[in-house]
Amino acid sequence: MVQFELNGKLVTVECSPSERLLDILRSQFFLNGPKEGCGEGECGACSVLINSRLVNACLVAVGSLQDAKVMTIEGFCHTERYQMMEDAFAEAGAVQCGFCTPGMIMAAESLLSNNPHPSEEDIREAISGNLCRCTGYNMIIHGIQMAAEKGTGLW
Ligand code: FES
Ligand code: FES
Repeated sequence: MVQFELNGKLVTVECSPSERLLDILRSQFFLNGPKEGCGEGECGACSVLINSRLVNACLVAVGSLQDAKVMTIEGFCHTERYQMMEDAFAEAGAVQCGFCTPGMIMAAESLLSNNPHPSEEDIREAISGNLCRCTGYNMIIHGIQMAAEKGTGLW
C-alpha cells in the first residue's frame, strides 16, 4: 500500500510496488492526460511533476512514491499558470497533434517555475526530452516564450 498526494488529494494505492505510475494514473484514476508513447523514457508524452520535478511516469515505480506529491496535467489545469500557458499555446499555434501537448505543457511549467525568463536555448533544452514527430518545435517554443512574457509574475 502506498500513500501519496495526487493533484492535491491524498490517495492510497494498493498494487505491486513495481507497477508503473503511468499505468496507475490512467487505469485507477482515469487521468488520461499523461500518454504512453515510447514506454521507455524517451518521448516525454507521459510527463508529470513529482515533488515539482519533471519526470517520465512510465519510468516511475509506484512503490517509490510514498509521501510524494504528484501533479498531472489534470491537476495543473486548475491553475492560473495553466490558463496562461493554454492561451499562449493556442495563440502560437503550438497545439499540434495533441498527443504530446500535455507532456510539453508540464515540461514548460517545470521550466518556468525554475526560470521565469528563459532564453530560447533554455526552452529548447527544457523540452529536449519531449519529442515531436509531427510539426516541429518552433511553435511550441514560441508558445512557451509567449507564456513567459505574458505571465510575468505568475511564475
Ligand atoms: Fe514515457 Fe515515452 S511514454 S517517456
Ligand atoms: Fe505531437 Fe508533434 S505535437 S508529435
